[in-house]
Amino acid sequence: MKKLWCILLLCCFAAAGFKARRTVVPYVFPQMQNFPSMPLPGNNPVTAAGVDLGRHLFYDPILSADSTIACASCHRQATAFADGGTAFSKGINGAVQSRNTMPLFNLAWYSSYFWDGRAVSLEEQVYQPVRAHNEMNLSWAEAVKRISRSTMYRKKFATAFGDERIDSARIGMAIAQFERTLLSYRSKYDLVLLGLEEFTADEYNGFMLMNDMSMADCLHCHTTDADVLGTTGDYSNNGLDTITDAATYKDKGLGGANGRREDIGKFRVPSLRNIALTAPYMHDGRFKTLEEVLDFYSEGVNHSVNIDSKMGFVRQQGVRLKPKEKQDIIAFLHTLTDSAFIKDPALGNPFGTGMLVGHK
Ligand code: HEC
Ligand code: HEC
Repeated sequence: MKKLWCILLLCCFAAAGFKARRTVVPYVFPQMQNFPSMPLPGNNPVTAAGVDLGRHLFYDPILSADSTIACASCHRQATAFADGGTAFSKGINGAVQSRNTMPLFNLAWYSSYFWDGRAVSLEEQVYQPVRAHNEMNLSWAEAVKRISRSTMYRKKFATAFGDERIDSARIGMAIAQFERTLLSYRSKYDLVLLGLEEFTADEYNGFMLMNDMSMADCLHCHTTDADVLGTTGDYSNNGLDTITDAATYKDKGLGGANGRREDIGKFRVPSLRNIALTAPYMHDGRFKTLEEVLDFYSEGVNHSVNIDSKMGFVRQQGVRLKPKEKQDIIAFLHTLTDSAFIKDPALGNPFGTGMLVGHK
């Protein structure tokens, strides 16, 4: 009799143990040679199920008040998850954004997000567009209610997090996990670094010019040599406008977010990866082409308070490049286009093309 009880008890424990243990399949990140190791938060490990859930939420207009706008309406894979061709994306009811939509790739390496650095993590970043009146305009209570009605989502939350509880924190965690898998590392530039392809003479010259302090002098901010991320990730003022009084900056950038006068007019140094796909350029989309950007750095740099001391050539309005030198830099910039990334089916719309009712 005693024996039977023991066996019964053991069975119960085994069953309980089995129930508590869910199979967590970690997401397998690709080998990214030449990249610094990827910083990942301990409290939101990236799992296959979490990424799958996040990808569905990213492409689903369910997160906007009238179910017309998804994250992917503005962040489109074909243009490296920027809204290529558009200076200011339109959100709900056609509301125009005040800054150029940023591309989304290699996000794990940034220590803060947005042009002005106002979000400190990807998890936190998600809260802003969903609630913003001119983006998706949905309260979190309503978002949770809607998603909870879906059998598909209840199942996906259970697989990703162990139970069916749906809340804003988990929505943010899942989308952040998906965003960490948006990795751009397969451009021609990467293949050249791996010794698998070669630059043309023009591309090579452009690369050398950008990394030469006495020539184009881009390397202090946009790293393409020792550090392959294409940016230091810093916030900086590159002299877009002549400003003598910090208070008169139309968009105060980092200084507007952190309240520091010395940071007014500073914006994220963007990565130059996929730059040929993401026109127009700068936080306000003021330059339509890379030619215009190069003309600016060559002859159009302005004195402004808070201009970065690394804009060393401001006294002569820029680095003064010859037309052929500008062309070679643009040829090099095109080698940073990652066609494998923008076509990767694992990052595309999981609902197929029909489901998304965006503004386009
Ligand atoms: C209406 C267009 C629009 C929608 C919808 C939208 N975004 Fe954005 N996104 C932007 C704009 C514009 C910026 C830059 C805003 C700024 O810097 O103030 C941005 C910036 C970001 C950034 C910062 C990137 C970086 O490198 O710092 C992330 C991450 C992001 N969005 C993710 C999302 C997610 C996730 C969603 C859906 C929940 C979403 N966005 C919905 C337009 C949009
Ligand atoms: C002192 C730092 C600094 C230097 C040096 C610098 N940049 Fe920039 N770059 C920035 C910042 C900051 C921005 C964003 C400015 C803004 O939008 O207000 C930017 C924006 C850009 C953009 C637009 C990116 C986008 O996504 O819209 C391109 C292209 C670019 N830089 C190329 C270059 C090239 C080429 C050089 C060398 C000739 C160079 N930069 C030198 C800081 C720098």
